[in-house]
Amino acid sequence: MGRAIAVLFAKEGARVVLADIDQESLNETAAHIEAEGGQATTVTANIAKQEDVDNMIKAAVDTFGSLDIVVNNAAGIMDNFKTAGECSDEVWDRVMAVNLTGRSNLCSI
Ligand SMILES: NC(=O)c1ccc[n+]([C@@H]2O[C@H](COP(=O)([O-])OP(=O)(O)OC[C@H]3O[C@@H](n4cnc5c(N)ncnc54)[C@H](O)[C@@H]3O)[C@@H](O)[C@H]2O)c1
Repeated sequence: MGRAIAVLFAKEGARVVLADIDQESLNETAAHIEAEGGQATTVTANIAKQEDVDNMIKAAVDTFGSLDIVVNNAAGIMDNFKTAGECSDEVWDRVMAVNLTGRSNLCSI
């Protein structure tokens, strides 16, 4: 979904900053956008980490001069439908860090 959103924004003239934990996927999306005449830059980032989110914003400002729109789309990760009793502390913390803290990190920029 993030790739489709980025490609559509670029087609409409936006200069896009692509961010994901998966650099290979970012490279594919950037190549796709550039092949269609658009502009994109990539940042490897885990939205659960405030420092990574700060780097995303810095990349937008450094590369394109400003940040106008944020698409808060990174994964809503799952716990493989474990019951509350089966869910380990590690899985709970990871899901909360990405789905809750990560979203909040991006909303608070
Ligand atoms: N596909 C659907 O039907 C559907 C329905 C409802 C909601 N959603 C939500 O929409 C969003 C996108 O869904 P999708 O189907 O494209 O998911 P997807 O799993 O295909 O893609 C998610 C992307 O997020 C990246 N990612 C994972 N953890 C990350 C992190 N911590 N920081 C940065 N990037 C991270 C992954 O590398 C991947 O590229 C998710 O939040 C999902 O929960 C999807």
